[in-house]
Amino acid sequence: MVTAVFNHKGGVGKSTTAVNLAAGLAKRGYRVLVIDMDAQHNATDYMGILVSRSDPTIYDVLFDAMDPHNAIYPTDSEGLYCLPASERMINASLRLNQDQIAVPSARLYSSLKKHGIQAEYDYIFLDCPSDLDAVSANALNAADNCIVPCFADQFSKSGLVNVIAAIEKAAENGCGTEIKLLGILLCNFRRVTKTARMNLEEIQSALPEDTFHTVIRQSAAIPDSIEKRKPAICMPKSPATEHYEQLTSEYLLRTQRTDRITRIASGR
Ligand SMILES: Nc1ncnc2c1ncn2[C@@H]1O[C@H](COP(=O)(O)OP(=O)(O)O)[C@@H](O)[C@H]1O
Ligand SMILES: [Mg+2]
Repeated sequence: MVTAVFNHKGGVGKSTTAVNLAAGLAKRGYRVLVIDMDAQHNATDYMGILVSRSDPTIYDVLFDAMDPHNAIYPTDSEGLYCLPASERMINASLRLNQDQIAVPSARLYSSLKKHGIQAEYDYIFLDCPSDLDAVSANALNAADNCIVPCFADQFSKSGLVNVIAAIEKAAENGCGTEIKLLGILLCNFRRVTKTARMNLEEIQSALPEDTFHTVIRQSAAIPDSIEKRKPAICMPKSPATEHYEQLTSEYLLRTQRTDRITRIASGR
């Protein structure tokens, strides 16, 4: 299963969520890969992977037809793997827009399929850039479903319209899988703020099916774990460990439910 972690707003918890949820699943015995699609390479850094300019990354996979197997690195957490990004991704969107191939936004989908990557992992997470660009379109086209991390503020609420439209556009273009919105995830939530509580309630009651029950609260353990380049969920118990463990359980419930519905619909 391929899950894109996407929101064109930056700093809303995409990389934090991709890494901790992936690590949470790896802790439960699953084989999990995080593909970093962002030139800022935050997920790569967070997972403790250091790449030099000449090391293989997602850039080589997208533009030099490199077999992704050659760009996948093990991490310190058992069962957790990383396909890193580097600054070379800065011009990726521009290159994709100049692409002469028929469906430039299907590059990632085609590569993963050609090299059988999906069959080798229980779960694959795509950490998207904070942009509605051609790189994000590649991720959405390769994904079965999508998690949308979001803040409980007015700007995030109004931005959700564009996020959902981008997901629907990817679902319609037919070049890859039929992407589904797995859920909006409230991140870095501050319970003490009245406006945040009101916005949370508003989102949850407007989109009850499409919002994770789990809320990731603000916790000092997150910046600490980023500093140490180790997923918070793999560190001593903290509120962040608890929230991401809860998210891992809810993710499994939601994805398995989607799987069962797909099986019933296809008569398998
Ligand atoms: N639950 C949280 N508690 C405290 N800080 C958080 C939390 N989630 C994210 N952050 C902080 O917010 C910043 C942005 O998060 P990040 O996951 O990089 O966002 P994005 O990938 O959407 O740009 C990070 O520096 C991280 O330390
Ligand atoms: Mg990020």
